[in-house]
Amino acid sequence: MQTSKEIEVQKQYIEKVKDINKGKKLKYFILTMGCQLNENDSEKLCGLVEQMGYEKTKQYEDADLVLFNTCCVRENAEDKLFGKLGELKRVKETRGTIIAIGGCMMQEKHITDKIKESYSYTDIIFGTHTLHKFPEDLYKTLRDKNKLQDVIDIDGEVYEGLPIKRTSSIKASVTIMYGCNNFCSYCIVPYVRGRERSRHPKDILNEVEQLAKEGYKEITLLGQNVNSYLKSEQWQDKKIDYKGINSFATLLRAINEIDGIERIRFVSPHPKDFTDDVIDAIADCKKVCKLIHLPLQSGSTKTLNTMNRKYTKEQYLNLVDKMKKRINNLTLTTDIIVGFAGETEEDFMDTLDVVRKVGYEQVYMFIYSKRVGTPGEKMENQVPDEVKHERFNRLKELVEKSIAENNKKYIGTTQKVLVEGPSKNSPDLLTGRTESNKVVIFKGDLSSLKGKLIDLKIVSEHMWYLKGDIMKVY
Ligand code: 5AD
Ligand code: SF4
Repeated sequence: MQTSKEIEVQKQYIEKVKDINKGKKLKYFILTMGCQLNENDSEKLCGLVEQMGYEKTKQYEDADLVLFNTCCVRENAEDKLFGKLGELKRVKETRGTIIAIGGCMMQEKHITDKIKESYSYTDIIFGTHTLHKFPEDLYKTLRDKNKLQDVIDIDGEVYEGLPIKRTSSIKASVTIMYGCNNFCSYCIVPYVRGRERSRHPKDILNEVEQLAKEGYKEITLLGQNVNSYLKSEQWQDKKIDYKGINSFATLLRAINEIDGIERIRFVSPHPKDFTDDVIDAIADCKKVCKLIHLPLQSGSTKTLNTMNRKYTKEQYLNLVDKMKKRINNLTLTTDIIVGFAGETEEDFMDTLDVVRKVGYEQVYMFIYSKRVGTPGEKMENQVPDEVKHERFNRLKELVEKSIAENNKKYIGTTQKVLVEGPSKNSPDLLTGRTESNKVVIFKGDLSSLKGKLIDLKIVSEHMWYLKGDIMKVY
């Protein structure tokens, strides 16, 4: 079936569920694990279930429908899911709540088997390629009172036109491509998200233009490997050039022209595909934040090779040098995995060396976690847990020291900040982020400043945030 027809069918199911739910004042609870792509998927799920007559609640005890959108990148997410599922048993027994679990983990057979065996009160299991069919799945469950599994292994299509309920009214995520072709040897994503599929530039531009009309100021473009945008097989025979967009660089340039959007971010690029045209586009486009998240994973050429990352320590450092030369005031963040199979003390020292040399604004640190079905799982010479933890702590110490030093450099500078709303921890102050994505809190009037860009003079620094005084409102 054509994707547009499929969405029409799902809209009919939305109406059918709405009919069943009429006058019932039903509530739903959603838990999202993992990355920003999953958060964006959850916004689509929220859009769907709200159209079907459910209202959001923050307590699963009050919910008639509980949705878990799962992640399987690291093991701790599995423990979390099974813990939560255990807690839901009582709610299911007392309220008859419908339990639906979707997302990456549901693409793994050993997980769905475990759910069916040990948590058989789960009503709906759906995968990453069938999210758009949730209205149909829910309808059939309500009608037949049966358990339902809707997971497919083949790569899904790109579905446009799903309703969406966004969590912010200022910042929005826009997925530009799905899946990944890279098969880094530690990573489960290519197995659960399938091959790369890029959205048509027209659909992306329409979405961002619509967001601009609705008053959104900041857009984050999402993909597992954004530099491969439009390079996927799906577009190989039909050379795409829509309004000059035929690559990630040209997409950035086109979005930069959209009135109303003030800031553009993107995650994640892969260092091996970071071409000069993208570096030039970042340098040239005023709205593109001068912050690049450039996942390192390891600083050791040998470990990078075992990880199948396809770049060396030197190539990574040269790329960073080139970026710093071409882009004024560039800041960098990264992801690092500690304790991958075969990592020696010497390899780990290489990672510390790169961290020192690059001077990251933020480092997201992970302890290697074996994933079923990946090449990493079968590798010999796995690093013992205590060594992994010891290295993790040493990396953390270095990162925290360098963040503290880096924070000091902000004092006395003027930073452009997008005002987001009241600060969570100090509700009488406002909060926003600098271009380098640092949280800043400051005094100001919420109603006149929300969604505005302002200049703040930074007056003090704290480990995870800065404090500032307003200098100018744009
Ligand atoms: N173990 C630990 N960290 C992992 N990541 C991906 N797979 C694993 C794994 N098996 C990390 C990588 C990636 C980030 C999203 O998660 O650093 O960039
Ligand atoms: Fe995983 Fe590597 Fe693809 Fe990123 S690029 S999603 S780490 S396989």
